[in-house]
Amino acid sequence: LHVLVLAGGLSYERDVSLRSGRRVLDALRAVGMQAELRDADVALLPALTADPPDAVVIALHGATGEDGSLRGVLDLCGVPYVGCDARASRLAWDKPSAKAVLREAGIATPDWVALPHDRFSELGAVAVLDRIVDRLGLPLMVKPAQGGSGLGAAVVRDAASLPAAMVGCFAYDSTALVERYVPGMDVAVSVVDLGDGPQALPAVEIVPRNGVYDYAARYTAGRTTWHTPARLEPAVAEAVAQVALAAHAALGLRDLSRVDLIVDSTGQPHVLEVNVSPGMTETSLLPLAVQAAGLDFGRVIGNLVARAAG
Ligand code: DAL
Ligand code: MG
Repeated sequence: LHVLVLAGGLSYERDVSLRSGRRVLDALRAVGMQAELRDADVALLPALTADPPDAVVIALHGATGEDGSLRGVLDLCGVPYVGCDARASRLAWDKPSAKAVLREAGIATPDWVALPHDRFSELGAVAVLDRIVDRLGLPLMVKPAQGGSGLGAAVVRDAASLPAAMVGCFAYDSTALVERYVPGMDVAVSVVDLGDGPQALPAVEIVPRNGVYDYAARYTAGRTTWHTPARLEPAVAEAVAQVALAAHAALGLRDLSRVDLIVDSTGQPHVLEVNVSPGMTETSLLPLAVQAAGLDFGRVIGNLVARAAG
């Protein structure tokens, strides 16, 4: 099998993607697969048509990799890939849309308001922000409606710091997602389907050293401590796994995903988002979960590739 690992691209998460791509490449080669890494640039389309690979692994994060556009191109070229289709990817990538689908499916997700920049300037920032605080309370979580790796995201503990958080967020996207901040344990559940249907891998508990799981905490060695499996009561761990599988199914996902949740003090999981192209770097959560499950990362990705290639 000839496998193409796509990484890089022009999103804010380019560097992360290159790290993910290299790790996936090494893991596939370690299990004897013939794999090559390439950037998702303008030369990709002619390359795909001239010498189509048997399967693609999308290690692209951010817009192109996760918004469905690249998947649409691969569909057009008839090239199979690991992961969900373009439509499901677009849905999961847009946090307000994904949250609406999750809520409709009976899955708890923190209350939210989606705020386009236009509306913000039309109605006046102060009035809009007052209304949001009235409705959702404090603290709040502000993040780009479409984005990843914590870029443009901020916790807002008092109303006075909301405007600055909004400005930081609008630097990354024209729509902000303002969410009720649910205190609790940060947990990520990776879901993989190795041929017997989706299974939830052991939950990873995330403890950032400075309390905030931002870009630096995600990708700098030593900035975050993980507990795998998460320190949860068995019944709560089971509920968390079931919620993750339900979220994966509700969004119509396939092959793999990573469901990010908060488990509150009563043991109730709240789904924050579902990633269709989860990070695969040395400090990323899905590879950690694979290891905690006693599986080999290269074999897991290799299995997905072989099944995608049919
Ligand atoms: N957006 C990053 C890559 C993640 O979800 O892991
Ligand atoms: Mg994400």
